[in-house]
Amino acid sequence: MDATGTETLSEQFQRTVEADQRVEPRDWMPDAYRSSLVRQIAQHAHSEVIGMQPEGSWITRAPSLRRKAILMAKVQDEAGHGLYLYAAAETLGVSRQELLDMLHGGRQKYSTIFNYPAVTWADVGAIGWLVDGAAITNQIPLCRCSYGPYARAMTRVCREESFHQRQGFELLHTLSHGTAAQRAMAQDAVNRWWWPTLMMFGPPDGDSAHGVQSMAWRIKRHSNDELRQRFVDMCVPQAGVLGLTLPDPELRWNPERGHHDFGAIDWDEFRAVVRGDGLCNRQRIAHRVAAHEEGRWVREAALAHAEKRRGRPSGEAAA
Ligand code: 3HC
Repeated sequence: MDATGTETLSEQFQRTVEADQRVEPRDWMPDAYRSSLVRQIAQHAHSEVIGMQPEGSWITRAPSLRRKAILMAKVQDEAGHGLYLYAAAETLGVSRQELLDMLHGGRQKYSTIFNYPAVTWADVGAIGWLVDGAAITNQIPLCRCSYGPYARAMTRVCREESFHQRQGFELLHTLSHGTAAQRAMAQDAVNRWWWPTLMMFGPPDGDSAHGVQSMAWRIKRHSNDELRQRFVDMCVPQAGVLGLTLPDPELRWNPERGHHDFGAIDWDEFRAVVRGDGLCNRQRIAHRVAAHEEGRWVREAALAHAEKRRGRPSGEAAA
């Protein structure tokens, strides 16, 4: 309360968050809350856009028209998820061009998972089942995030994400119940994607720089380790239905914990990929920057058209 006994803006903000109500773009918010949201939402958007590359490289090589159509729909969805999230970030006063400049310049991150190559067709199934499954596990709580635009974007993303996971599971199920060569291809893909997928949930809680504050602001609703454990518990029975083995000899049900114990994650690998030393980091950014440059004429044409309609001379070329 200030001297006159009225609630300060900071107290109003805290009361809103603690009452599980939404903070909206025009509401007062601490600068640190705003910048943490810009950081997380931008990196989430970058992940969606870069995430199109591994699967996109298989659209022309899909084994049937049906699979091609499904994969095209999924990759298009990811582009839309990126747009929802860039739009949510823009409500915090940052421009899309600024965010793209930070991504292209290596000053903002995207998820490590997309720096692994999609080597065979089975990888498309493993990405759908595991990576989108992990994304759903992480994104459902974000539907209750304290920042309105982010929470609403997540609600729409999660509806589409469940299709992504199911189509990946079905693709793997087809292979794992096919020929011996198909079964081997499916198992090989799961072997390669399982551990990098567990890294998607972030470092262990003890090393999470933002986790405690993010949960206090009700941006994150659960810790990295909690969601990772929830994902492992979800995948074990699904792997059983697939007839595939999760590549962790220490994975077993622990009745005392009521969860599955699992082996140690290679955090040195995680830190190396975050640092830019993953298998595909340079290729992913080079592809992204090239696509952005190739799309410059589209942005310029759209801008010129919009300004013509508004009756103003065509402005500076689109950045
Ligand atoms: N890849 C790259 N960087 C990661 C990472 C990962 N898998 N996990 C954590 N980091 C980074 C964080 O960004 C942070 O670095 P920064 O300060 O430069 O931002 C640092 O490691 C410490 O991690 P924290 O736990 O402190 O960071 P957060 O509290 O932000 O938690 C997170 C990390 C769980 C990824 C959180 O940011 C989050 O929930 N983000 C939203 C979901 C998201 O971005 N998912 C990525 C995949 S999107 C996707 O899969 C789409 C699907 O359709 C395919």
